[in-house]
Formats: sequence, C-alpha cells, structure tokens
Amino acid sequence: MTQREKPARLVVGNWKMHGGLAENAALLQDILAGLQAKQGARPACLVAVCSPYPYLGQLQQVLSESTVAWGAQNVNEHERGAFTGEVSVDMLADFGCRYVIVGHSERRALFGETSELVAAKAERALEGGLIPIVCVGETLAERESGRTESVVGEQLRAVLDRLGPKITNTVLAYEPVWAIGTGKTASPEQAQEVHAFLRGLVAQRYIDQAAGLQLLYGGSVKPGNAAELFAKPDINGGLIGGAALVAKDFLDIVAAG
Ligand code: 13P
Repeated sequence: MTQREKPARLVVGNWKMHGGLAENAALLQDILAGLQAKQGARPACLVAVCSPYPYLGQLQQVLSESTVAWGAQNVNEHERGAFTGEVSVDMLADFGCRYVIVGHSERRALFGETSELVAAKAERALEGGLIPIVCVGETLAERESGRTESVVGEQLRAVLDRLGPKITNTVLAYEPVWAIGTGKTASPEQAQEVHAFLRGLVAQRYIDQAAGLQLLYGGSVKPGNAAELFAKPDINGGLIGGAALVAKDFLDIVAAG
C-alpha cells in the first residue's frame, strides 16, 4: 500500500456505560485543552468520542466548535416506529453525531446481536448520513482453536454482502474480545495480521477502494503501546475503551496517531 492511498489516522474513544454530566464536562475540557496545546506541533489525527445516548447533547454543545467529532455506541436498524426504548439514526443526526459504533462485541455477546443485524444497522447509519464504526473480533477460544479468520471473516462478509462497495464509507474496527478491558493487547504483529486479512477480504471484491478503508484496532490500547500498533501498515488508528476515560492517556494515544 502506498502512503498516498492511506486513510487518515483516527482515534475514537468509546466511553461505554461510563460518565455523567460533571465527569464528562471535566474530561472534555481536559481533552480540548490538551489538543489545543499541541496544535501545530504536527498534523493531528482525527479524533472522536462516543458517549451514552443521554450525553450526546452535551457533546454537541461542548464539541461543536472543536475539531473533535462525536457519536453514539449503538443505533436501531429501523428508520422509525414502535420500538420502545430504541434510538434511530435520524435522532443521532439531530445531535450532530458523525459516527455510530455498531456490532461491538459487548452488544454481540450480551445483547444477542447477529452479524446480519449489525449489517442492517451499518446500512441504516450510512443511509442517514452517519459513519458506522463496524466492530469485528474473535474470542479467546476461537483464536486458540485457529478460527480467528473464519470468525472475523464471517462478521465482515455479512456487512460486505449488505453494503457492497459502500463498505468503504464505513470505518472497520478489529477488536479481539480477549483483549478488551483485560489489559492483554494483541501484539502489533497479531493485530496487523488480522487487519491485513480484513483489508484483503475487502480487496477481493473492491480492489480499488480497499487501500483507503479506515481500519482501527481496539483492545487495551494504552499510551505505552499505541505508537507501535499504529505504526503497522494496515492499522489506521484505534478504538479506545478504558484509556479514553482518562484525558492524559487519551491525549497521549491521540499523539501517537
Ligand atoms: P479497552 O480499551 O478498555 O480494552 O476497550 C476496548 C473497546 O472495547 C473499545 O470499543
């Protein structure tokens, strides 16, 4: 892959079910101050944070004038209707969201989301003008039984089948389940291997666009390992959980981007 074709680096914080009005205000203030202090030092990577739904208005208010984008962590696959408790893409758009995470492993494992449902959510997000961050990843048992490629391949193919060439308008995130919140990071080599496999799958169908696909790594990314991960040719940034809740850590990861 040539430098010219490489997508921009992107670092996204996934706050999961953490935060509160006061906590968020302090975190965002520190992040914005940190980014401002570093401005001009080197070309910054793209930065975004994804909060729980109730705080999207707060993100819109605080981040509108900044370079930081924001998004949600889930969305319903329907346009509108009798879906009590659900949130639509248009509602996220009302609050200025640029991104929405779909298919996070916690949603697949804890809320029974299938790859087909994830694909439908990704399609709806694109139709509504949002960028879906589509997560794929294998469990430890799947990795240890040599099934990593078949598992992430099946997860990606469901989205590819549904979106076709529009897949290149998404962000793809490889998050090995065994590395999420465990402190165990995939080594840069392990992560690169899967990223290259995923990009290769896209390239099999859309050779011209595959190089430009933004592919993030997620799973215990910390200031100490971010630079090494991001240096790999097929890793274009990170999806950050725990470390995104600590301004200094998040800023250090952004600085590695
Ligand atoms: P951690 O960075 O806490 O391992 O979480 C990763 C993740 O799930 C981001 O979506």
